[in-house]
Amino acid sequence: MAENVRPKLESYLPPPILKLVKEAGERASQLGMGVYLVGGVVRDLFLKRPNYDIDLVVEGDAVRLAHVLANESQGKLTVHSRFGTANLRYPDFSIDLATARREIYGRPGALPIVEPGRLVDDLIRRDFSINAMAICLMPQRFGDLIDLYQGKQDLEKKLIRILHPDSFVDDATRILRALRYEQRLDFRLEADTEILLRRDVSKLGTISGDRLRHELYHILMKEPEPEKVFARAEKLGVLKQLYPSLKGNSRLGQKFARTRRLYKRISLATIYLCLLVHEFNENELGQFIAYFNLPRTMAEAVLHTVRLKAKLCELDNPKLKPSEVYRFLRPYSAQAIRANLVATESPIAEKHLKLYLTKLSSVKPLLNGDDLLKMGVSAGPQVGEVLKALHEARLDGVIKTRKGEEEFVRSMRSGGP
Ligand code: CTP
Repeated sequence: MAENVRPKLESYLPPPILKLVKEAGERASQLGMGVYLVGGVVRDLFLKRPNYDIDLVVEGDAVRLAHVLANESQGKLTVHSRFGTANLRYPDFSIDLATARREIYGRPGALPIVEPGRLVDDLIRRDFSINAMAICLMPQRFGDLIDLYQGKQDLEKKLIRILHPDSFVDDATRILRALRYEQRLDFRLEADTEILLRRDVSKLGTISGDRLRHELYHILMKEPEPEKVFARAEKLGVLKQLYPSLKGNSRLGQKFARTRRLYKRISLATIYLCLLVHEFNENELGQFIAYFNLPRTMAEAVLHTVRLKAKLCELDNPKLKPSEVYRFLRPYSAQAIRANLVATESPIAEKHLKLYLTKLSSVKPLLNGDDLLKMGVSAGPQVGEVLKALHEARLDGVIKTRKGEEEFVRSMRSGGP
């Protein structure tokens, strides 16, 4: 008989989510469909880790069920009819509904052919036993655990295990996913899974740059200590296969840890990415950008990182005036400056980079072009020149008030300072 986890589920899910998944079960039952909670949220329920990315699999028409739920609950509905999926978004959480699918893999690395199926078809196509459990939501069986691949046992043994020997061949992104879960949860690869992962590591070469970038970014964005994933990937020969110049050594670990200490309230993923490529030369970097098809802002951040690093010795000069620091750093993206601040070994350069980020980048004169015209500065290039001089004087602390700025403009007009 199936284990029933109703009490666990009721205490794990926040009340509004619980209400909705119960509703989903009742409506599905009335419509002659089946609906199940699946994937990461079931895994995290047993691990007692919060996860409010709710995934439901529907035996039947997921889009139809989503319409019914949207009408009753005021969720914002987005539908992808072609894939038989829908998303319901609420202020604090979101629910994905997908029609149960059967996948047929053709060529390694290619996306699979998909057709509607039963829950069991949907579970067998999943990556690891711990992600392949489901909980029944229909009222008659609410809370019944469906665990066809001993996922719960693997959770207890702290193991990452694939469901069949060709899993990594079918989808080599699972190689990176395996390491991500292993390091995040402090699990181990099950012995056969590790053998197959090592055997199939070259299959990463069958994955498109866009999908690889997505996985890479996922590691950088969602993992609390991404350096652990890179260190493990290096050890298993995965990193070399992913991109030969990448390194997962302890130096990278120190830089990532320092990033977390330095920047507490901003998203770190792009800074981490910049640090991954910080030691690359421009040639290697150009190939990296093309291989992972980096979007423009990311490409700019990594390029600026490497270019700034090459010239950073110019900041290693204690005599620089703030306005000189400003002029030197202004062309570089903030993320590249942050990454260089993490990585530099020069205390003087570090001080200048910090000064720029915390102060100089936001210094502005109080007077604007109109004010200058009113003060008698003649229209044309002169306005820009006076504003620039004012800005520099502000940066260097020569003037501190509006009155000081006005005096500065007047003295400029009379030939000084
Ligand atoms: N999945 C899979 N193979 C993939 C990607 C996803 O089998 N290549 C399945 C897994 O069952 C996974 C679910 O789809 O649990 C949802 O995918 P995703 O949101 O990426 O994973 P989560 O388990 O929710 O992981 P995370 O906690 O990192 O968000």
